[in-house]
Amino acid sequence: MDQSENTPVNPRIAAGAETIGDVIERRLSRRGFLGGLTAVSGLALAACAGRTQDEAAAAATQEMPRPAPAFSFPEIPRGMDKIHHVAEGYNAALLLRWGDPLWADSPAFDPLNQSAAAQVRQFGYNNDFIGFIPLDPDAEGHPGGLLCVNHEYTSTHLMFPGIKEDDPKGITRDIALTEIAAHGGTIVEVRNTYQGWRPVIGSPFNRRITADTPMLITGPAAGHVRMQTKADLTGTAVLGTMNNCAGGITPWGTYLMAEENINGNFLGTLPEGHPETANHKRMGVPGGWYGWGAFIDRFDVSKEPNEPNRFGWIVEVDPMDPASTPKKRTALGRFKHEGAETVIAPDGRLVVYMGDDQRFDYVYKFVSAGKVDPANRAANADLLDTGTLYVARFDEDGTVAWLPLVHGQGPLNASNGFYSQADVLIEARRAGDLLGATPMDRPEDVEPDPRTGRVWVMLTNNDRRKPGEENAANPRHTNRFGHIIEIAEPGGDFTSETSAWEILVRCGDPAIAEVGATWNPFTSENGWLASPDNCALDAKGRLWVSTDGNDDTGAADGLWAIETEGKRRGSGRHFFRVPIGAELCGPRFTPDGEALFLAVQHPGDGEGASFEAPTTRWPDFGEASPPRPSVLVITRNGGGPVGG
Ligand code: FEO
Ligand code: CA
Ligand code: CA
Repeated sequence: MDQSENTPVNPRIAAGAETIGDVIERRLSRRGFLGGLTAVSGLALAACAGRTQDEAAAAATQEMPRPAPAFSFPEIPRGMDKIHHVAEGYNAALLLRWGDPLWADSPAFDPLNQSAAAQVRQFGYNNDFIGFIPLDPDAEGHPGGLLCVNHEYTSTHLMFPGIKEDDPKGITRDIALTEIAAHGGTIVEVRNTYQGWRPVIGSPFNRRITADTPMLITGPAAGHVRMQTKADLTGTAVLGTMNNCAGGITPWGTYLMAEENINGNFLGTLPEGHPETANHKRMGVPGGWYGWGAFIDRFDVSKEPNEPNRFGWIVEVDPMDPASTPKKRTALGRFKHEGAETVIAPDGRLVVYMGDDQRFDYVYKFVSAGKVDPANRAANADLLDTGTLYVARFDEDGTVAWLPLVHGQGPLNASNGFYSQADVLIEARRAGDLLGATPMDRPEDVEPDPRTGRVWVMLTNNDRRKPGEENAANPRHTNRFGHIIEIAEPGGDFTSETSAWEILVRCGDPAIAEVGATWNPFTSENGWLASPDNCALDAKGRLWVSTDGNDDTGAADGLWAIETEGKRRGSGRHFFRVPIGAELCGPRFTPDGEALFLAVQHPGDGEGASFEAPTTRWPDFGEASPPRPSVLVITRNGGGPVGG
């Protein structure tokens, strides 16, 4: 998402009830900040596991090998222009553009004659998350897999002629329906042919999921009265998913789509005194960014006050069965979900890490009640319906307390308006408020590493944090450039209710003292970044970070490789950058690390940009070509792992 939806809605912040100005001072004075970084994971693990530091250091060495060789690609320069740039020695090829056909009978892309009927047969808009599910080689022996791509939102003013930005009333019913068809996701088979990676047009796996696709609601909130609408008295059947930002792929090969800024798609005014008033306010509903509600009643809260409660969830899709019904898994809570990366804990349970991307909102994890059955895919079908959702409190002593969102425990009871677990999940944010979770600087991707027991948390930025509102894990007020937190799960036990945390790096320009960045001095003038958003681990377990807002520093968003080990820990290396107006999403490596898929989102946007006058016409560059959000595939010339 671009940065239009960042308005804080956490009442704890509005009320000034949170945080103390000197917390970070105490923390910094107790720990040598940079000096302590390298050793902290093992030491913190000791604190959690009740072992001595020496024992833990030995255990960390044995149990958690830290390979991560240095990256060897030549850096690209910071900069901003109308094209993309990749490190020398690598090739960036277009794989799929907005409007590209997915089937032989898909209408050709015609930006002047768009329709929902065409769009639903084509690749959608504003690609974000990318998942990759390997398949066996095809008949010709080409390796490949299923690409699962989210289409987060639509940029109406860039997609359609004659539309002014932020003028939802200016649209027609046809535009609304086309936008609904451009949201959601695409599942598409891709193959590495002798010509390089290609989509398989007409593959039986290919599928479009839109904001109108029938879905089921499952888990503890399914069927609850607050989930019922005039069109669905069961509270279990909903049309569509939207604002699908990042996501995840489960160990059994299903696709998790995270519903993020769903508030913007609703219009209207709730009836005076409606019981959902406070709940909707906490989610920013109705945002009124889109005009859909003028034509489709369920997007108008005055007509369907409960419809917003049916969005803001994690959706599980089985890509192996294109006829399957996607399921909204309410056990994972309702908020502005950024991602849903998964890992199997040592005892076999599944853990899902999730960020709630809004200023002053929270980091979560879900621990399934049952265990993953690696030998029986079907046995995992409903694993995400039962388990415990936790919200994170980052304490100044370097521990994370994972606080369970369980009805009846602590303040989560009827006296606070929580009458059931369904209420807790529908209003997960308010439950987190009451439990004392730590308000963060826009939590985005949260990525667990099964090799090391570590978890990387991207915090994009938060320029609304005032002096005095800092906390240990969010140490800068007016945090325009974000930071990255490392969580160490003790002994690699991802289910732990107590973990350790440390800041890997405070982002921004290290040459400007007032920024307060903490890059390792090995970082070059091109190697630092601002506003970390999505991230990925490559085949060697190395961390790569993409940005949404680096352009705030005068250079385009892009992808950086980040060292997390040894003397270069906390340094960055610039690998790829997007054309003007875009953010970079989705980084996803193939399991062998030899291909890297990237999602270039909202190219051509910017102050005053429009369909008629975008800031770039990437990637087609025709005289009247609109910019097209696209997925690229990066490979190394001559083969080999991306990143060296
Ligand atoms: Fe959709 Fe949080 O970016
Ligand atoms: Ca973002
Ligand atoms: Ca994002």
